[in-house]
Amino acid sequence: MVTEKKLFIKTWGCQMNVYDSNRMADILHPLGYRAVDTPDNADMVILNTCHIREKATDKVFSDLGRMREHKENRKAGGKKTLIAVAGCVAQAEGDVILDRAPYVDMVFGPQSYHTLPEMIIKATGERVINTDFPVESKFDSLPTDHASHKGPAAFLSIQEGCDKFCTFCVVPYTRGAEYSRPVAAIIEETKKLRDRGVVEIVLLGQNVNAYHGEGVKGLGGLIEAVAAVDGIERIRYMTSHPRDMDDELIAAHGDIPQLMPFLHLPVQSGSDEILKTMNRKHSADHFRDIIARVRKVRPDIALSSDFIVGFPGESEKHFEETLQLIRDVGFTASYSFKYSARPGTPAANMQGLVPEKAKDERVQVIQRLLYDQHEKFNKATVGKTLDVLFDGYGRSENQLHGRTPYNQAIHATTDLNNFGKIVKVEVSGATGSSLTGLVA
Ligand code: SAH
Ligand code: SF4
Ligand code: F3S
Repeated sequence: MVTEKKLFIKTWGCQMNVYDSNRMADILHPLGYRAVDTPDNADMVILNTCHIREKATDKVFSDLGRMREHKENRKAGGKKTLIAVAGCVAQAEGDVILDRAPYVDMVFGPQSYHTLPEMIIKATGERVINTDFPVESKFDSLPTDHASHKGPAAFLSIQEGCDKFCTFCVVPYTRGAEYSRPVAAIIEETKKLRDRGVVEIVLLGQNVNAYHGEGVKGLGGLIEAVAAVDGIERIRYMTSHPRDMDDELIAAHGDIPQLMPFLHLPVQSGSDEILKTMNRKHSADHFRDIIARVRKVRPDIALSSDFIVGFPGESEKHFEETLQLIRDVGFTASYSFKYSARPGTPAANMQGLVPEKAKDERVQVIQRLLYDQHEKFNKATVGKTLDVLFDGYGRSENQLHGRTPYNQAIHATTDLNNFGKIVKVEVSGATGSSLTGLVA
């Protein structure tokens, strides 16, 4: 019998990192590692990191300091601790981490998780670094039975990497070239999740609608195949790129009842000039046109997006064009970020840096406008009865957390037996970020 060991994984970044962290826990399970919620007494700590903005990267180094203390305290008690850094910072700055943090035992990038058991054996004798992009896919050898999955909703990675090379973004360098998993593997994983009580599948990819698995017509075709799996009641997908919103995918929003009326479609800017220097390869009007086409087949679709303010060369006029796009389209949930120069990306060498003060002002303006839109949308649902999937426990004893079809977060007073079910809820209150409700 293997001795049980405690494994603490801390996850930053996107949903794909959440998916990966769970797969890492699964592959380490047969070795005796059991996932725990705090680092206390952990025999192994994995920091699954994000490199997307400078702030995200800084957080890793401050956490590493704490992990060093953890390791030293355990050492004083005669216990060994393995410290690992995974994810996109590991991929981008593996050598720097090994140099700066001598107590780190392992550094490995997102494409090497399937070799974790071998890396652990190796790490007993030497420090391990693995930032290769192997020819075989990690998905072929990572366990996909989701043995420890709880709850009615689950992430499922179907695509990874990116070939788009937006000039601000590190993802093509940290995750590598675009790769689509075979349809059969995705359907098998969907069925395994269904057998564990999952009714909502969130299909994930850094560029999920670039999905091009053989045998189906793009992501639209794959969604149709997933919808045909008995027991799957809700499907969502993220994150998509405007250039990959093809006819089949748009049609799916009208034709497939399980596909929820919510679309996260990052646009980044409303200025054609800035979109061009970002290398997004589409115009602001192209984005407006996609939205009009999606609304035609699904008039109630809720829209979300990502925006970057203060990209090099962004003038007040360019910024105003972004605000105008937001006013024209209307969003129900969105994220906006101050541009952060990332080492190794083309934008990091661009002229026309926007002063920090202007970036601060613009981010406040854009966030105010977006929040007002989110609030308006949420308030308009007060008094309505919506289907809510209860996927978590609430703040008080008789409360559950759930999601409406429009991806709104809602806390409702209800019998706790409704956990995991889709239930009719009357919306009783709203802010810009969430709803409250009562089971009808
Ligand atoms: N694949 C997705 C987004 C991945 S990153 C897409 O193509 O849109 C998530 C978001 O982080 C991006 O949409 C962008 O808004 C933001 N982001 C990426 N790089 C950034 C940078 N260097 N500075 C600020 N925000 C950035
Ligand atoms: Fe990054 Fe998305 Fe652009 Fe790819 S498409 S480079 S992931 S922002
Ligand atoms: Fe961050 Fe890597 Fe995801 S940089 S956003 S964890 S792909």
